[in-house]
Amino acid sequence: MARLVRVEATGPTKIEPGTIPPDKPLWICACGLSQRLPYCDGSHKITRSEQPGMIYIYTRDGKAVAEVRSEPPDSPSSPASAVPPTSG
Ligand code: FES
Repeated sequence: MARLVRVEATGPTKIEPGTIPPDKPLWICACGLSQRLPYCDGSHKITRSEQPGMIYIYTRDGKAVAEVRSEPPDSPSSPASAVPPTSG
């Protein structure tokens, strides 16, 4: 499973010293769907129904699946793409 995420940011998010509580865990979004990047906002829960071999395209607000496609066999996350190309 994978997803295509529309990201329009063109630079980093600055986190000022002292803004992160030192004694509490901080969750950084890894799914790409958070509306509060770089922080997790719980939007990843919608990915629980994603199936291997498929690519999910979400609506701009990340709250719904807009389209599902089969993952191409030469996709970087596909097991077939992990095989080094033969020479010659
Ligand atoms: S990991 Fe992306 S919203 Fe939680």
